[in-house]
Amino acid sequence: MFCDQVGHRILHKTCVDSTNEEAKRDAEKGAAHGTVYWADRQTEGKGRRGRSWISQDGSNLYFTVLLRPTLAPEKITMLTLVMAYAVALAIEKCTGLETGIKWPNDIVVNGKKVCGILSEMKMERQQPAYCVVGVGINIGQTTFPKELRDKATSLCTELQKRTTNAGTKGVNLCAVGNSAEDGSDKEKLLQEILKAFEDAYQAFLEAENLLPIWENYNGHLVNRNRQVRVLEPGGEYEGTALGISPAGELLVEKSDKTIQKVYAGEVSVRGLYGYV
Ligand code: BTN
Repeated sequence: MFCDQVGHRILHKTCVDSTNEEAKRDAEKGAAHGTVYWADRQTEGKGRRGRSWISQDGSNLYFTVLLRPTLAPEKITMLTLVMAYAVALAIEKCTGLETGIKWPNDIVVNGKKVCGILSEMKMERQQPAYCVVGVGINIGQTTFPKELRDKATSLCTELQKRTTNAGTKGVNLCAVGNSAEDGSDKEKLLQEILKAFEDAYQAFLEAENLLPIWENYNGHLVNRNRQVRVLEPGGEYEGTALGISPAGELLVEKSDKTIQKVYAGEVSVRGLYGYV
């Protein structure tokens, strides 16, 4: 297999309720660290904050990695940022598209979201027993529900724009009659993501912080130097996003020049002038 730990076993199904749920069920039965659950469609795809993730388009990529990290619970949220970073690099490598990360873990191309990530953790005796990191990437989807049209896009939509304007480049994810649906080029993208994740994950485990990828993550951060509104359970405020800290918090400078550390979780960070 192509990865030492992550992706040593990839379980593919045409349809599941949710790859995160599939991974959690298997984890309860003792499945190994690094197992990957990949499906062409999901009937109950889950998004962040209790939302659903519509997963009927078989050309998209839906997968979950099961991890059993020996980390303190407060460090587990950083795994989602590690995955976002890996997905951003792999999309760039496979397609040539320029990717951005909207903190903490949306992948953005040309200002619109192409990928969402949902991590879930099971605790046992005050320690993380396992963690599942689920990734949904819009690849061939060309239409989106009205409420998402301004902020969602797919790799093929963006590649087609570029083909028109600047010649053809990248893997054959979207050519007519090609395999976004049958899976072969999707699998190449999945492999690149798992490779990039494995490298970043090992470095993160050793450091127990995001310093190994910190500069490059910040280089991809689309919120950087932008005005944002932070919505926390206790209230909301505005400021300028400066970048992330090595612990993965978003640093936001308020108008009084104080710097707030924003923790991922129940927080929402919105651009003042659009999705980003
Ligand atoms: C978000 O709201 O941005 C996160 C979306 C995460 C979707 C992926 S698709 C694969 C995995 N299985 C799920 O049910 N959700 C995640």
